Amino acid sequence: MSKKILVLGATGNVGNHLVKTLIAKGETVKAASRSGKAVNGAEGVAFDLADPSSFAHAFDGIDRAYIMLPGGSVAVKDLLLPVVEAAIARKVKIVFQSVLGVDADDSIPYRQIEILIEKSGVPYVILRPNWFSDNFHTFWKAGIGHGQIALPAVNGKSSFIDARDIADSAAAALTSSQFDGRAFNLTGPEALGYADAATILSGAIGRPVTYSAISDDAFIGILTGAGVPADYAGFLASIFHPVREGWTASVTQDVETLTGKAARSLATYASDYAAALKA
Ligand SMILES: NC(=O)c1ccc[n+]([C@@H]2O[C@H](COP(=O)([O-])OP(=O)(O)OC[C@H]3O[C@@H](n4cnc5c(N)ncnc54)[C@H](OP(=O)(O)O)[C@@H]3O)[C@@H](O)[C@H]2O)c1
Repeated sequence: MSKKILVLGATGNVGNHLVKTLIAKGETVKAASRSGKAVNGAEGVAFDLADPSSFAHAFDGIDRAYIMLPGGSVAVKDLLLPVVEAAIARKVKIVFQSVLGVDADDSIPYRQIEILIEKSGVPYVILRPNWFSDNFHTFWKAGIGHGQIALPAVNGKSSFIDARDIADSAAAALTSSQFDGRAFNLTGPEALGYADAATILSGAIGRPVTYSAISDDAFIGILTGAGVPADYAGFLASIFHPVREGWTASVTQDVETLTGKAARSLATYASDYAAALKA
């Protein structure tokens, strides 16, 4: 039986850590991205979600796959359906990176992909992460540089999760069958507002950072002014509605269930990424 794991988004936030963890566990990994770069000692494979002709080579020799959609994508079903169907046709076990809360409504595109996987007959695990801590050194980094994180979150709290914990959870799901057929809501250990987060980040980088609650329109204006496409800026604004409603404040033990370790706090994230946050 083939014993290779295909990791999508292998040069990205979660994928990079996941490849490293799987290699450390002795697994053989094909690291997929459009660039096809080798990642952390894993063979790189050129793969494009939007180009099914790239799938056959990527799936060659694979028995398990980590399937995710890169950030910046709004065409959820258009991009995910072909690769999920390709994995199912090859009877590959799927560990799917979904999004916290999508199980609230079966009409949500991410939930429709989950349902397809649940009904497929292939072994699967669904991971639904909350907002990433890592957004602070990626999406919100420019604001931190100016000393102010401006978001349409009002006072809503989120149990931010470190991408390393998503990767460790994914590695556990990919290397064991004990979690098959289940979905896990991945959160950090505590719910924090963006003002709390600003205080923690400020302490880690040794510079003042404050939080300013702004309107959706102001947020979209800032993003599009920084070159973010209007449709993705609108999408990002829309996903702060659940934050304002308090739906992203729940805390679960699912990271610990999967990995045997408690999820990392935002303070740990901020300390470990202080150089990137300051740069
Ligand atoms: N950020 C959050 O707070 C959050 C919270 C919950 C869920 N999520 C979900 O998590 C996902 C993002 O995870 P992430 O941050 O780990 O991803 P990411 O870092 O944005 O993913 C980038 C990776 O995907 C590859 N990639 C980009 N376009 C591709 C394409 N067309 N075909 C194949 N590979 C492609 C990139 O390499 P190349 O450019 O070389 O192709 C890179 O390896 C999103 O679906 C988001 O909805 C995010």
